[in-house]
Amino acid sequence: MIQIPKGCKDVLPSQVYLWHRIEETARKTAAAYAFKEIRTPVFEHTELFARGVGDTTDIVNKEMYTFLDKGGRSVTLRPEGTAGVARAFLEHGLAGGVMPFKAYYMISAFRYERPQAGRLREFHQFGAELYGAAGPEADAEAISFADSFLRALGLEKVALRINSIGCKHCRARYHEALKAYFAPHLGGMCEDCRNRYEKNPMRILDCKVEGCKAVAAGAPRMLDYLCDDCRAHFDRVRSLLTQAGVAHTVDPSIVRGLDYYSRTVFEFVSAAAGAQGTVLGGGRYDTLLEQMDGKAVPAVGFAAGMERLLLVMESEGKLPAPEEGVDCYLAGMDASSRERAFLLANELRRQGVSCETDLMERSVKAQFKYADKTGARFVAVLGERELLDGAAEVKDMKTSSSERVKLEELANYILRRRS
Ligand code: HAM
Repeated sequence: MIQIPKGCKDVLPSQVYLWHRIEETARKTAAAYAFKEIRTPVFEHTELFARGVGDTTDIVNKEMYTFLDKGGRSVTLRPEGTAGVARAFLEHGLAGGVMPFKAYYMISAFRYERPQAGRLREFHQFGAELYGAAGPEADAEAISFADSFLRALGLEKVALRINSIGCKHCRARYHEALKAYFAPHLGGMCEDCRNRYEKNPMRILDCKVEGCKAVAAGAPRMLDYLCDDCRAHFDRVRSLLTQAGVAHTVDPSIVRGLDYYSRTVFEFVSAAAGAQGTVLGGGRYDTLLEQMDGKAVPAVGFAAGMERLLLVMESEGKLPAPEEGVDCYLAGMDASSRERAFLLANELRRQGVSCETDLMERSVKAQFKYADKTGARFVAVLGERELLDGAAEVKDMKTSSSERVKLEELANYILRRRS
């Protein structure tokens, strides 16, 4: 039997309500912050990610699903959502429209990673991007949006960590300091880090190799190298968050795994998800749009991993209750009452009552069992006598009480009582 590719997951009908719950919460929170949905393609020209996400990142170097299409063009399944949104924004000239531009997305994304709990090759993100606002209020707004979303899911044990990685001016000074620090250790570090040393020494701080991690622990901190403007920006973001009651701690080790960030970076981390504890990450990225041939447009955003959210919701005991079954199951006894049930079900649906009838030729007893198992709220039995009377015997599955109800009153009867 052909099996699902490694690192992918099916969402079965019995579990999909969990996804609906996250998606509804995401859409509601986005509406509260006045973000509108954007949909971009699942694949883009490879160059978009190479330039956008950055060619010193693991994502671009090791994890992209890249292939030549039949026209010989190199295309890549999106490893994240930000680059595609930036491309669409520039391509449609949206900088000339209403600003700030605020968009959210719910997407599948693809990274060729070593799969484990909370780390997949196809995964799903809810993300948001805000363009055009350079001030710290925009950072605080994006972080507050992310925080509200996680709280609305009921999560309480997810902690916000925040850092600043400065701008290109102060980061240049910091890179010099990092190089001076790492130079005597290079011999004992991994090959990737030796490359990173030349191209982007800050990436070394994100290395997962134990030996490199140990060296990185003693490295200088970006926070000590911030220029006055970046320092003031960071302080103001923190002050706004504190005033808004968004608890956070400063974590100088956060550098993020993508190259486009500047100034504020942040992650929401749960102890519950174990090694894959980061459920949401984001930050400011003021140079990405400029690099992509556009004019300079300041930007900030975040993305949350939906599979990780589910893991954390489960470990915090915050998974929602399963969805209820139909409003009414119509049980038939013989050929003519089954036919009547089929037609009545269609009528009831038109009146806003969700219904099911038997499609498996089961006995009435087995139909009741099915209705019970699937959580039907009412069961209406249509037998010979009932049809003669133009009425059904309606059982309330919550209270187990039964009542005879005229068929023409059935819809109203159920609509009044179903909640
Ligand atoms: P990221 O940190 O690479 O950032 O991913 C965001 C979130 O996606 C992570 O915190 C994690 O929950 C989830 N995630 C990432 N990789 C996987 C995986 N292999 N399996 C399961 N979940 C995963 C970005 O993608 C940026 N585009 C976020 C952003 C938006 N920054 C600014 N705007």
